[in-house]
Parts: sequence; structure tokens; C-alpha cells
Amino acid sequence: MAILITGGCGYIGSHTVIEMVKAGYDVVILDNFYNSKPEALRRTRELAGRDVPFYECDIRDAEGLRRIFREQSIDAVIHFAGLKAVGESVQKPLAYYDNNVGGTVVLCQVMAEFGCKRMVFSSSATVYGMNNPSPLKEDMPTGAVTNPYGRTKYIIEEILKDVCVSDKDWSVVLLRYFNPIGAHESGRIGEDPNGIPNNLMPYITQVAIGKLPRLSVYGDDYDTHDGTGVRDYIHVVDLAAGHVKAVDYALGHSGAEVFNLGTGNGYSVLDLVHAFEKASGVAIPYAIAPRRAGDIATCYSDPSKAERVLGWKAARGVDEMCRDSWRWQSGNPRGYDQ
Ligand code: NAD
Ligand code: UFG
Repeated sequence: MAILITGGCGYIGSHTVIEMVKAGYDVVILDNFYNSKPEALRRTRELAGRDVPFYECDIRDAEGLRRIFREQSIDAVIHFAGLKAVGESVQKPLAYYDNNVGGTVVLCQVMAEFGCKRMVFSSSATVYGMNNPSPLKEDMPTGAVTNPYGRTKYIIEEILKDVCVSDKDWSVVLLRYFNPIGAHESGRIGEDPNGIPNNLMPYITQVAIGKLPRLSVYGDDYDTHDGTGVRDYIHVVDLAAGHVKAVDYALGHSGAEVFNLGTGNGYSVLDLVHAFEKASGVAIPYAIAPRRAGDIATCYSDPSKAERVLGWKAARGVDEMCRDSWRWQSGNPRGYDQ
């Protein structure tokens, strides 16, 4: 009995591999290294303390997937593999629909061929769109998304719900992540974005090591306590632990169930900058810049359903998130490039 982890060499996937092994699961990793590196796999195996089986494979490659299902006894899939850059998705929508939506359809078809009908899927708070007030709850309307990336998440959620309606043997857990930051406490694995980061925490850490001169704060005139955007930052190891609980749940239920994975706390851009400065002892120069298109003022979760049903709750606070992000970045100034 093993759990296949697609995208298991990526930021969230690598941390999840470790938490799954710690919880006693056998795991098999699949990745095509589109947005990750073999060094991440090497270090993940090192931290897991075992030679976890790995397949270099694309989720759109049905024959490649069949080989994995023939060679391994897979009971469930945690499906991280996908493209995730919001701005890029506006430029290359077809690549996003092909990889994220098309890839998920091929993966589900091959799973069904082999009678494996349990999946935990990486969705996003982005599916709540622009119109719902925070705290965001799982039963609020979804779909008013603002970019092709978000639309792929919404469409995949709907596809997976349809699959569960069509065949009662399917069990799907849709996890809506809020804003993952932080890194494994060893400082050996973490987020390693290509080029200039789009997201706030990797931008802050690259300013802190002197790779970038200053942070642009996108807007200080939002209706928030200090005018800057508020988000629900969650430690990636807490997020990874949520996947263990989600797999436990998927193995014992059928149908589709949705859970927010967040802390329920909102921090502004400047709150995070100051928390990071305190944790690292490094000053972060910043300048106020215009709002970024598509951003909303406030986005944080109501995480109570995951606590009630899965028995999961985020344990790490923002100081730990900043400390671990900094340990990773300062110990690996060039990420996984040695
Ligand atoms: P990541 O890019 O670090 O990891 C994704 C991994 O999937 C990479 O290793 C990449 O090489 C692999 N991959 C991509 N396309 C593939 C394909 N066709 N076949 C095989 N492997 C493929 O991203 P992450 O931050 O770890 O995110 C994981 C998942 O969580 C993604 O689906 C993402 O959309 C979702 N998510 C992430 C965030 C976030 O802020 N990081 C928020 C919400 C949802
Ligand atoms: N921000 C800055 N400067 C930067 C980067 C970000 O001020 O250089 C601000 C943003 O305006 C926002 C906050 O920091 O107020 C967080 O921005 P991120 O880009 O880190 O995160 P988002 O909430 O915009 O987006 C994230 C993921 C998306 C996902 C979305 C909703 O990156 O993939 O959460 O789940 F769709």
C-alpha cells in the first residue's frame, strides 16, 4: 500500500513527502522537474531517511503513469503537479489548461483503469474569487476567479466533484490552501522560485540576502488596518501535516469533501515584513508601489471544518514561519543550485 505524490519534488510536495513518511505511509514520488530540481529530491530522501521510489514522468503521459501503477501498489494519490504562476497563466492560458486540467483528467483516467479512486487535490483559496468576505468558508460560492490559473483550480474542483457523482467508489479531498510560507526546520528544503519571485515571502528573503534591492509593497490604500493587503500565511510543514490527515480521511470515505487549510489569522504585508525583520535581525528596505492587478484587500480562512472533521489545526505561528523561511534562504542563497 503506497501513496503516489505527483509534484513531490516541488515546494509543498517535498515537505509533504517527509510528513507522510513520518506518519508511516509508503510513498512514491512523480515529477517532471519542470519547476523543481533533482537536488530537492535528494534532500527530501535524506530527510525522509529512506530511498523513496521516484519516477520522472509527466502527468499528461498516460503510458508513463500506467508503468507506475503496474510497478507500485498505489492506494491513493496526492496531486500537487501543476503550474502555479498567476501572471504567466494570463500570458499562456493554454499551457495552464493543458497541464493542470488536461493532466488531471489523464491522471484520473489512469487511476480509474487501475481501480485507484482516492485523491487529495491541491486547490487554492483563489477559487473564492473577489466577492466573498473573509473569513472564507467552504460553502461560500466559488468560480468568480480573476485569472486562468485560478480558473484551472475551479474547473478541476468541478471535474473531481462530477467524477465522485458518477462513481460512488471515488473519494476526493479538495484542499484549499491559503498562503504557504516557511520551510522545513532543518533548513535543507524550502521554496526555490525561478527568477524574480512573484510571492511576498520569497521576495522578502531575497531582499534580506541582498539579491534584490528592496521590496515593492503593492498598495497602501486598501481597507485594512495599515492599508496593505491582508493574507492568511500558513507554515508549509503545517500544510504538509494537513495532507496526512486528508489521506487518512480519503481512505475511509467516499464522495468529494472540501477543506480550507489556513490558520484563520490575517497578516498585512507590513505585519509580515516586521515579523521577518524581528525573526532574522535583518532590515527590509521597502517602497510603496501601485496596487497589483487582480489583488484583493483581505483573504483569510475559517479553518474550523478541517479541525472538526480532519482533526487538523495549524500549530506554527508567524514568527516560526519567518524564522524557517530565513534559515532556508540564508543557508541556501542560491536555492538548490550549489
Ligand atoms: P511547485 O511548482 O513547487 O511544485 C509543483 C511540482 O509539480 C513541481 O515540482 C513541478 O516540476 C511539478 N509538475 C508541474 N507540472 C507537472 C507535470 N505536468 N507532470 C509532472 N510534474 C509536474 O508548486 P507548489 O508551491 O509546491 O504547489 C503545489 C500545488 O499546490 C500546485 O498545484 C499549486 O497550484 C497548488 N497551490 C500552491 C500555492 C502556493 O502558494 N504555493 C497556493 C495554492 C495552491
Ligand atoms: N505583495 C507585495 N509585494 C510583492 C509580492 C506580494 O506587496 O512583491 C503583496 C500582495 O499584493 C498581497 C500579498 O503581498 O497583498 C501576498 O501576495 P502573494 O503574491 O504572496 O500571494 P497572493 O495572495 O497574491 O497569491 C497566493 C498564491 C496564488 C493563489 C492565491 C490565492 O500565489 O497562487 O494566493 O490562494 F492563487
